Amino acid sequence: MLFNIHPSNLVSALSIALELSTDGLSRHHWRTALIANRIAEQINLDDSQRQLLVYAALLHDIGAASNWSEKKKLHMFKVGDDIYQHAEAGYQLLKESPQFSMLAEGIRHHHDMWDGSSPYGLAGHNIPIISRIINLADRLEILIRDKVYIFEQRPDILSAIRELSGSYFDPNLVKALHEFARQESFWLDLTNPHYYQNFFRQIDAYGRMIFNIDDIVNIGEIFATIIDRTSRFTGMHSRSVALVSAFLAKAKGYSLEEVKLMKIAGLFHDLGKLSIPNEYLEKPGKLTEREFSIIKQHPYYTYRILEQIDGFSTVAEWAAFHHETLDGSGYPFRVPGDLLRLGARMVSVADVFVALSENRPYRGPLSARDIEKIMRGMVDNRKIDGGIVADLFSDGSGLGSLINQIGEMSWSPEQTCKE
Ligand SMILES: [Fe+2]
Ligand SMILES: [Fe+2]
Ligand SMILES: [Fe+2]
Repeated sequence: MLFNIHPSNLVSALSIALELSTDGLSRHHWRTALIANRIAEQINLDDSQRQLLVYAALLHDIGAASNWSEKKKLHMFKVGDDIYQHAEAGYQLLKESPQFSMLAEGIRHHHDMWDGSSPYGLAGHNIPIISRIINLADRLEILIRDKVYIFEQRPDILSAIRELSGSYFDPNLVKALHEFARQESFWLDLTNPHYYQNFFRQIDAYGRMIFNIDDIVNIGEIFATIIDRTSRFTGMHSRSVALVSAFLAKAKGYSLEEVKLMKIAGLFHDLGKLSIPNEYLEKPGKLTEREFSIIKQHPYYTYRILEQIDGFSTVAEWAAFHHETLDGSGYPFRVPGDLLRLGARMVSVADVFVALSENRPYRGPLSARDIEKIMRGMVDNRKIDGGIVADLFSDGSGLGSLINQIGEMSWSPEQTCKE
């Protein structure tokens, strides 16, 4: 399998996960990136800076992705003092990442006001240029309404931006924006969903940065953190599923590269959970039918996002089919058992095993013996694969060390999982 992936391909796909909502997908990060790139072009920012700018724009609200009340604040054009938490959270998430640390400062300051009036912000030219551009692009994007003809919105959008030139925004950037905003093509690009693939290809041409499989594991760990933060009950769930998936792949004799891919599948398996409001994941009582149907959407979005990454079609299945079952009654694709790949069966077994090994509000982690009993019952009911379950329980010392590692990773005494 080939694993050299263009960052724009990976980052543009993952950026969709940052704005998932119960209503489906929006394009805030894509459009912000496109506007930011046009501003950069207008002021002749060099190619390598432009490339970083586009990646930072694609990830700029990463600090809000786990938290729905944070996400909602971002839809207001005029920001309040409470907008800065997600910018700081984004910085904290990325600052130590070998792949993304160079984006962290730009993201940290993406709501800083040009006039220095933001509470912890910088002012004027002390704000990184990448942050100043994202700020302007982001606010412009927020003003676009999908149901109104774009040229009927243009004058109001531009005057709303002009009013804040010198207070919110760098006046030079506002001037640059007004220069290219005369081009109808800019507005048509913004509203044309088919343009984006060309746009991302163009960004690839700015530099030769390529992600290999280890880079993707590292990036998967950042997303695992975001996913697991959607509920205080899921602690280190994604990392634990990655660990067990890799263990099972080794037991089946997978190559080193395939074991890493299984780890990646585990890290991303619940990516679509970012589409579930936190209150559903944390609801103490029984879920309504509607709430449960929304929870069950999550592997659908995991699949639709991962499949957009070049070379990820198999990993997308391994990750997203973890609630499919051998009797074909799983969700959301209802894949018949004979079409469920071994990798998907392993992630599914890993997911069940981890859930049973984790703390719950009403119980501690189950013993290996109890877990095995429950899982063998699921094998008998044609829910999970018996051969993989046998692999899991046949290696006593391997299993013991897995349970210890999962125990060490579980930080919350009251974890639960509503799946
Ligand atoms: Fe933001
Ligand atoms: Fe934003
Ligand atoms: Fe799940």
